[in-house]
This record gives sequence, structure tokens and C-alpha cells, in this order.
Amino acid sequence: MDIPHEIKPLPLHYFDETDIQGDYTYIKDFHVELTKRRFFLRFEGVMLQMDVYLNGREVGHFVSGYAPVEIDVTNFLVNGKNFLVIHVNTKEDPLVPPFGGVVDYQTFGGIYRPIYLIDKPLKNAIDDVYARGRANGEIDVFAEVEAGAEITNFVYDGDQLVGKFQGSRGKIENYELYSPSHPKLYNLITRTSTDEVTSSLAFFDADWREDGFYLNDEKLFLFGLNRHQTYPYIGGAAAESLQKEDARKLKKLGINVVRTSHYPQSEAFLSECERLGIFIIDEIPGWQHVSKDPLWRERCLALTEAMVIKDRRHPGVIAYGVRIDESQDDSELYGETNHLAKLLDPERATIGVRNFKDSECLEDVYGYNDFSCIYPRHGVDKVSSWSGAKGKAKLITEHSGHTYPTKSFDPPSVRVTQALRHALIVDQARGDKDCAGVIGWCAFDYATHRQFGSGDKICYHGVCDIFRNPKWAGYFYASQGEEPFLGVASSFLASEYEGGVLPTIPVFTNADYIEVYLDDVLVHRLYPDKETYPNLLHPPVFIKNLVGDNFSEPILSESESRFMVQFLQGHPERGVEGMSLGTKIKMLALLKRHHLPPQYVYDLYYKYVGFWGCKEERVVTIRAFLSGKCFCEKKFGNSQKTRLALEIERDYLVNGDEYDVIPILVKRVDQYGNLCSYANDIISVNVSFPFCILSPQSFSLNGGVGVIYLRSVKTKKRNVGKIVISGPDGTFSFPISVQNATSLPQ
Ligand code: GAL
Repeated sequence: MDIPHEIKPLPLHYFDETDIQGDYTYIKDFHVELTKRRFFLRFEGVMLQMDVYLNGREVGHFVSGYAPVEIDVTNFLVNGKNFLVIHVNTKEDPLVPPFGGVVDYQTFGGIYRPIYLIDKPLKNAIDDVYARGRANGEIDVFAEVEAGAEITNFVYDGDQLVGKFQGSRGKIENYELYSPSHPKLYNLITRTSTDEVTSSLAFFDADWREDGFYLNDEKLFLFGLNRHQTYPYIGGAAAESLQKEDARKLKKLGINVVRTSHYPQSEAFLSECERLGIFIIDEIPGWQHVSKDPLWRERCLALTEAMVIKDRRHPGVIAYGVRIDESQDDSELYGETNHLAKLLDPERATIGVRNFKDSECLEDVYGYNDFSCIYPRHGVDKVSSWSGAKGKAKLITEHSGHTYPTKSFDPPSVRVTQALRHALIVDQARGDKDCAGVIGWCAFDYATHRQFGSGDKICYHGVCDIFRNPKWAGYFYASQGEEPFLGVASSFLASEYEGGVLPTIPVFTNADYIEVYLDDVLVHRLYPDKETYPNLLHPPVFIKNLVGDNFSEPILSESESRFMVQFLQGHPERGVEGMSLGTKIKMLALLKRHHLPPQYVYDLYYKYVGFWGCKEERVVTIRAFLSGKCFCEKKFGNSQKTRLALEIERDYLVNGDEYDVIPILVKRVDQYGNLCSYANDIISVNVSFPFCILSPQSFSLNGGVGVIYLRSVKTKKRNVGKIVISGPDGTFSFPISVQNATSLPQ
């Protein structure tokens, strides 16, 4: 098997997780030249526990799940060929967190994260290093080295040495501050006489105060999403390249913080988040349940310790989640988790996430999951109502989620409501002066247990679908970011809506204004709705109707035109019954004055409003402007000549320490590039050496989208293979190359 590995390929949904719960054996032989060094096997993540045997000898039993396990195997290795056997037990064990109660996420099974064989010198080895850079240029280095061993530190900006100091504290003069919009990272090389370790370094001060989160002494509103690490077909076994891709997707959603709900996540994901300027709030594994069993509690503490030791190396982590998500108070357990975190990393904040307001808060930050949204008026409660949070920093750690599950193929009114709920909540949270930030539930649809989700083992709570394609709620997030963005939450097909009438359409954008055209005639210039969303960085723009500056009926006087526009902008489809008496009288008088038949009003309706049953094809164009310049145009009309389109980031794969995977999104789009959300075509895929696919060979689109996971297989030299993707109306066929990381030009 190649690692990362999921016990069994899974269907997209309606899977039975008991199929992947059992005992499995991995075997591997490998070659080692023994030197006078110590050797360790490091497992980044094995779900759930394992018995390890090396060369026929039992090394031990280890619980991993979401935590790394490092084992000293110096005394088990032999010179030359070694034989490793790992029995993995993937069963949900009630004595290991997150299990014991019910869990709203799937955990899957297998060796799903990398394994390393590490060697260290016998003397003066550096066992662990993490460094803290401050806004004033000071650096503290925390290194576990043998007593008496000296350390020297070198600070690099890329390959340029920018500072050097001895011992555990130093200061450099020329450095740039780290922030989400300027994520400047440095490398720190820490050396003893025999060993060296490279770690990541950033210069900033993060302070959680009673009235919010401060970055370098300035308030920064944290705007984020929760992320589960589950993927279709491959469960949790995503290669580093996919983990990084998730971070990039999140960056596009405009967020500055991610919560790794509800367990520590992969190194690749965390590193990419901090490289892109997304702060991280991590969390110990769990879900609501705390056991009284001493072994479970001991393991909870061991997992807390493992999480802090792993994640303290990441400058991007701004708080350790040391309380099980939404669990009840437990002074004894959480006293210890907090104590442990502070012992292992004294300066970093701790957070605890609950779903009630009067909890005992042993952490620095009170996290609260606020599901009080009653759209359209109420978004979230004021943080001052969290009685247990007095004197603490206050962060909304979840909202929305199960209160409004939304599928990417739901009717538009459902998809819009999800988006506007998120917008309302973020607006209200931003307007609450003591609220440190708001983290939505959640980034991507995720795999779950039968008690949750939509019966198909998927929770459709994401602002993106499980393929990572944004829903309209995802448009809202992207519109709050710095990259120019235009997302229109409609297909402009009146017949998709209740009564066959176009409702008010939200446009999610960070443009200064938009222009709306009907058949190339300018209808409106519209601005962000600051009145309804006074606190959002970029409130949505609303298109209330398509009758505006385009109304031109020469036979009508100015005041008659005004009356008619008003009428058409209302709800003329309700017909005569829907008219007030005043309107009826005015309308009759107007028709009489011009000797017009009642049909005239219907004709105007079809010309300016009515798409329902309208003979002509109508095309709506939206243009978005920044500083007077149009940066994006989107068109909507009769979806004709639809076609399959592919989204692929690169046309090569690189074999590094592990195989590489690229996701290829397959979509059906119309002639304007708009997603055909209800398309469910059958797609089939064929590949040739040197790659294979981790997704099924044939699948149907869901919400107009599907994903192919193309993975590299080992090849001696650069090699080119072919992928053929076939749909009902055509075939894509193109070459993709695979190369080894070492053969890449520097
Ligand atoms: C919360 C929980 C999350 C998820 C969410 C769904 O209560 O913390 O894990 O289940 O509800 O909205």
C-alpha cells in the first residue's frame, strides 16, 4: 500500500462505516544502514489504534486517531532489510476520544497520514523546537536539547540569512510583521554541535482581550469557517497536495481564521494555512461526550499533549482548543487540559467551545456555538449575554450548520437563504463591539454518522459542497475577501421560483457598484446595501427587479411612465385581483386615455418583467466595478449549448515523499459558463501509467459537479500519461506528466 491509505474506497454517500471497521494488517520491508544514531518511526495519523512489530518483535500498542505517534525503534532495527508489521484496529472504541457517545463526523480508518523513519544523533540531539517571534523582533526559541548543549539559531528569509544568535533568546532588526494580508514567514535553523532542526517563524503579537482579538496591538475581527478533513471516496486519507489545496480554497473564501473542528489536522494543511495568512484554532478530538472512565480521560490528556507538541511548531495557531466541542463542564478534566497546554506552550491562548452560555470558563477564550439565527431578523445573540464569559475574550465558534442544511442542488430560494443567513450573522457579529470574531459552520459538506446529515451520511452544512465547489453561501464568503469577486445568486429563471416570479436577487461582491443590463440595455446601477448590513466589509447588492432606466414607452407621459414602472416593479403577476382599488382606477384611466387594450399591460409585463412564458429570450448581464473599472461580467439566459468543463490547477504530478494527487472538477456549464446545478450526467474516466485514480471510474455529477482524484504512481523518470474523461456529449483527452521531486529543476 502507498500511504496515505484509506481501508477501502468508499461510495460518495450512503456508505456503511461498519464496512471499514475491523482489523487490518499492513506489512512493509525496508532497508536501513545502521549508523551510530537513534531511529524513530513517526506516524502522523493512524485511525484508530495499532500494534507495531518490527523484525518479529513486538514494539507496542499505540493509540493515534488524530494524533501523531513517535516510537523509538533504535533497539528493534537491524542492519539491512527490516520487516515492519502494523496491525491497525479501525473500530470505534468507546474508550478513545472522540468515541463513547455519538459523533457528528466520520472518522474512517487506516494509515491515513504520512509515516517517517527519522534518525537523530546520539548526543546533543534536538528533540523538539518551536519558536515565537514577537512584533518587536524578539525571538524565543524553545528547544529540547541535552543539558549543557549549546544552540545557535539562524534566521532565514528565503535563502537569505537575516539574523543569527546563540541561546534561546535573540532579536533581529530587519523583519516584516506577519498578518493575514501579509503572511510573511521566516525559517529558523537551530543547531547544536551534532544536530539541526528547521522551524517556521513569524513576527507578530496575538492578544485575546475582553473586547476582542488584537494583532500587533490593533483589533482584528476574526472571520472564519470550520473545516472537517473528510473527502469523497478517500475519507480522511488525503495526500498533502489535497490538504494544501483545501487551504487555498479557504483563502479564496476570504477568511482569516480556520477552526480545525473537531481534531488536530494535517501538517500540510496547517503549514499552507499559515503560508497564506489564515490563522488556526485547533481542537482536541471529541464531540459533546466526556467519559467518566479513567482510561478515556487519560487518553484525552495524552491527545491534548500530543496536539500541543505538534501544533506549537506552527506560528499560525492562535489558540489551542482544549475542551471537547460542546461538552458539559468538567472542572477536573479541563483544569488538566488547560494546565497541560500552558505547561507545554505558556504563551499561547487556550479556548473552549460550548453550546451554553453559563459555562465555567477555564480557558483564555470563551468559544460559543450560536445557533439562535431566526432569519431574516435575528442572526446571533450579543456576546454580553454569555454569562460565563465575563472577563474573557469571546468568539463565536459556530453558527448556521444544522439550522439550515443546504444542498448545492436545492432550489434557489434555499441556497439564497443559506447565504443570507451567513451574511446576517457575520454582520451582527461584526457590529458587536466585544465579539472577537465569527466562525461559520462549515467550509465543506462532510461525511457523518447516521444520526446526522441527510440520511446519506453527508452533512450538507458547507458553504461549499463536498467537492469543494462553492455554494451561494460560499459566494458570500468570497465577497468579503480582498480578491475582486462577483457572485450572482440566481439563474434569472423566473420559473425556478415560487409563482414563477423573480424575487429579489442578491449579488455577492466586493465591487463598488454593479450595473444590471437586460438585453444589453442598462436597467440599474446598484450599490451595496449598507443599510441592511451596516457592519459587513462588503454588503451584498440586491437586484429587486429588472425595470429601471430601461423603461421607455414614448406614448406614455413622464408621470404615467413612473406609475407604470412602479406597478411593474411590484408584483404585477398577481393580476387584477392583486391590484389595490387606486391602482385599478389609475390603470383603467391610463388605458382609456391612450385607447389601449388591457393586453398592453401584459405586453409590458413580458417586455420588462416576465420571463415566465415569455416568447423572447432575455439575457441579463451583471457588470462589477471597482474604482470605475469593470473587473467582471456575468451573463444569464436560456441555458443552451451546455457542455462539460474541467477545472484543473496543473497538468503535472510530482512524486515527493508521498504520491501526489490533483483534483479535477468536472462541471456542466452553459454557454455563459454558469453551472447547470441540476445536471447529473454519467462521467467515465480512463487513465494510463504513470497515474491512477482514487475516485470511481464512472460516476454521476451531483449539483452539476463531480471530482476526479488523479494520483501519481512511482516512476523512475519523468513520464507522461494520458487521461480520458468522457461524458454524454464528448470526450476530453490530454496528457499529464509525472516527475519525481528530486528531478525537478531547482
Ligand atoms: C454543532 C457541532 C458541530 C456540528 C454542528 C452542525 O453543534 O459542534 O460539530 O454538529 O452542530 O450544525
